[in-house]
Amino acid sequence: MSSTIFHLIILLMAMVMVSPTVNSETLPTYTVDIGSNLTDALTVHCQSNIGDDIGTRVLQYAGHYSWKFGVTVDQPRIFSCYLSFGNSRGAFDAFIYGRDFDRCKNNLCQWCVNRRGVYINIMEGWKIEYVWKYGALNED
Ligand SMILES: *[C@@H]1O[C@H](CO)[C@@H](O)[C@H](O)[C@H]1NC(C)=O
Repeated sequence: MSSTIFHLIILLMAMVMVSPTVNSETLPTYTVDIGSNLTDALTVHCQSNIGDDIGTRVLQYAGHYSWKFGVTVDQPRIFSCYLSFGNSRGAFDAFIYGRDFDRCKNNLCQWCVNRRGVYINIMEGWKIEYVWKYGALNED
């Protein structure tokens, strides 16, 4: 074998080894956690865009509700949550892959609901993202 061909083979092997393989195994797992700072009982019901139903929970003050899931390239997931307490009700997106993959610290998307609205815990701290207004939830 000529040394040129030998070097070509080595180069091809190196290219195969460093080429990224993108599949569901190489993508991370995320956790969404919803906490309540409300003194009233908070009802939470979350579902994904592909039909996963996380179920309904009733959170008391300082209660938490969390779940883990993987995301795939073909099917980035969205989780939407319906909230209600007292006479207030509304929905927010607890996870949107394109919005959250980078900003959720350590792949944990941590949310907190209080009387003002729904906050997310990001690098800069708690950020209000949805606001309660006249008993409905709106994007801030
Ligand atoms: C929720 O309550 C905890 C404990 O008092 C506090 O540390 C946190 O900042 C509160 N977060 C929000 C978004 O109200």
